[in-house]
Amino acid sequence: MTVEKLPLTEDRVAQYHRDGFLLASNLIPEAIARTGEAAMWTVMGMDADDPGTWGHFSDEALATAVQAGFKPQSKLFQFFGNRHPDLLACYTPAMMAAMAQLTGKARDFFPPPTETLIQNVFPSEGEWAWRGAHFDGAVKAKQHETFPGPFVINSIIYLNDIEQRGGGTVAWPGAHKPVRALAESDPEKYKYMWRLAQDLPTVQIGDPVELQPKCGDILFFAHFSVHAASKNIRDTPRLALRSRW
Ligand SMILES: [Fe+2]
Repeated sequence: MTVEKLPLTEDRVAQYHRDGFLLASNLIPEAIARTGEAAMWTVMGMDADDPGTWGHFSDEALATAVQAGFKPQSKLFQFFGNRHPDLLACYTPAMMAAMAQLTGKARDFFPPPTETLIQNVFPSEGEWAWRGAHFDGAVKAKQHETFPGPFVINSIIYLNDIEQRGGGTVAWPGAHKPVRALAESDPEKYKYMWRLAQDLPTVQIGDPVELQPKCGDILFFAHFSVHAASKNIRDTPRLALRSRW
């Protein structure tokens, strides 16, 4: 019998619980992450080395993305339910084991996904800014209940090296704790996530940090973790995959 080495140190697990999120490296071998990066360009039908092609999404990408609400003029390219094998290969056994460590749940609670959500942020003109501090699962139409919550753990796999102001996620360390405290202060009033989100502006959440992930880094975040998308004012798109359990 082989004993699988735990992928995260105790310090990193403690950091996740303290901050409500963790940006982790080395859970995806570099070759797999770089193959995933190349697959992103194939899926979008663009040439990474030719910015002239970047506005021209492939017919397949457009058909799926437009169906999912994508606006071709938008800087956010979303592709729901993508099954490209080189993207799915990024969900490694080490990533699954890390999530078991972070949540204290059994390893088999985290099967690798059979499809993924692509969220790529293309470069924009103008001033850098983040937009819309929020926690996930608060879309009113979905009617997610606040407890136990719509997910156990959420993930973003980054598939290129992201410079400062290059569209990295912005996150508020520790903000999940006061948000949870507000929810627990009146479980009836805050039965639904969308209602809790309305009162997020009343919570003291401090200052955010801008993450600068490298290709193959994974952001894990917890229920109530406050974060925001940011504008990409660099030269290359930010490439990422989303999944939650
Ligand atoms: Fe979000």
